[in-house]
Amino acid sequence: MDYNTDPTRNLALELARVTEAAAMAAGRFMGRGDKEGADQAAVNAMRIVLQTIAMKGVIVIGEGEKDNAPMLYNGESVGNGSPPDVDVAVDPIDGTRPLAFGRTNALSTVALAPRGTMFDPGPFVYMNKLAVGPEAKGKINIEASITDNLKAIAKAKNRAVEDLTTIILDRDRHSEMVAEIRRAGARIRQIPDGDVAAALMTAWPDSGVDVLIGIGGTPEGVIAACALRAMGGEIQGKLFARDEEELRRGHDAGYDFDKILTMDDLVSSEDVFFAATGITDGELLKGVRYLGDGVKTDSLVVRGLTGTVRQIIATHNLDKLHHLGLGEQRIRKLV
Ligand code: FBP
Repeated sequence: MDYNTDPTRNLALELARVTEAAAMAAGRFMGRGDKEGADQAAVNAMRIVLQTIAMKGVIVIGEGEKDNAPMLYNGESVGNGSPPDVDVAVDPIDGTRPLAFGRTNALSTVALAPRGTMFDPGPFVYMNKLAVGPEAKGKINIEASITDNLKAIAKAKNRAVEDLTTIILDRDRHSEMVAEIRRAGARIRQIPDGDVAAALMTAWPDSGVDVLIGIGGTPEGVIAACALRAMGGEIQGKLFARDEEELRRGHDAGYDFDKILTMDDLVSSEDVFFAATGITDGELLKGVRYLGDGVKTDSLVVRGLTGTVRQIIATHNLDKLHHLGLGEQRIRKLV
């Protein structure tokens, strides 16, 4: 080990500007009931800043296929084209519904990893997930029962199962899982949306959340894997087919729905960068505050190689940004 290496570039710090821009644009839509408008504003803002970053990025986790998503589509090149070559995962808004109705925990997130190291879920939208923070890393197994996993997590944390808090999306498809968690005796937080924030909470001291369980989006699963890899936690996944037809299409395309997607499958490099900015208030991050002449944002910035976790509270000067041509007007023009 060479202990004299100079510090290297932390791309996550630059990513914070990307998620800040998306959050500031999307935050204007809080409670307006306009999911599409919010998403478009976030995508536009995110893309403008992404293009300024010195990197040769390819979007692996994006807004979908090119025809449905005019920007930040899967396969799109982002960055200024210079090295390093990276895979890029974006979720301009995780929690478009909560944002549209002014509810908690909407976030803007971005993750980067060396080219070819992120899992590409293709068109398969759902993944069964099991995620924990650092203390229970290496102790979970998505193929084992929920009860056995809860026992293993409790043991790793030196607690009783009754002391654990699980978090799970409030969906009908989870009724069996919820019944099993109740039988096992753990506490449950059922959330309306936002399982990226939920996965982050498992690795966030004082969040009060010990484990994320259940089926959510595959893009969100890969993004959560990047964040947890950097924060020292663990997520395991398994693609989830909604019906026989989807299962058949998956097999034809070479996807194995029985395979456990380990952390290494989801993102195989330690050299990951992750940033998130709160859009609406949440347990982890405060939402965007508009102050008249400024905007305040709260972001989380994580780097895998060093494990440094930063929280950045920024005040953006709207007047100065406007004079530089970087104000909200520019983003609005694109919406
Ligand atoms: P979007 O904001 O992108 O719609 O995602 C919100 C979300 O709750 C994710 O956090 C979660 O992974 C996914 O939707 C679950 O999907 P569904 O709402 O179809 O159950």
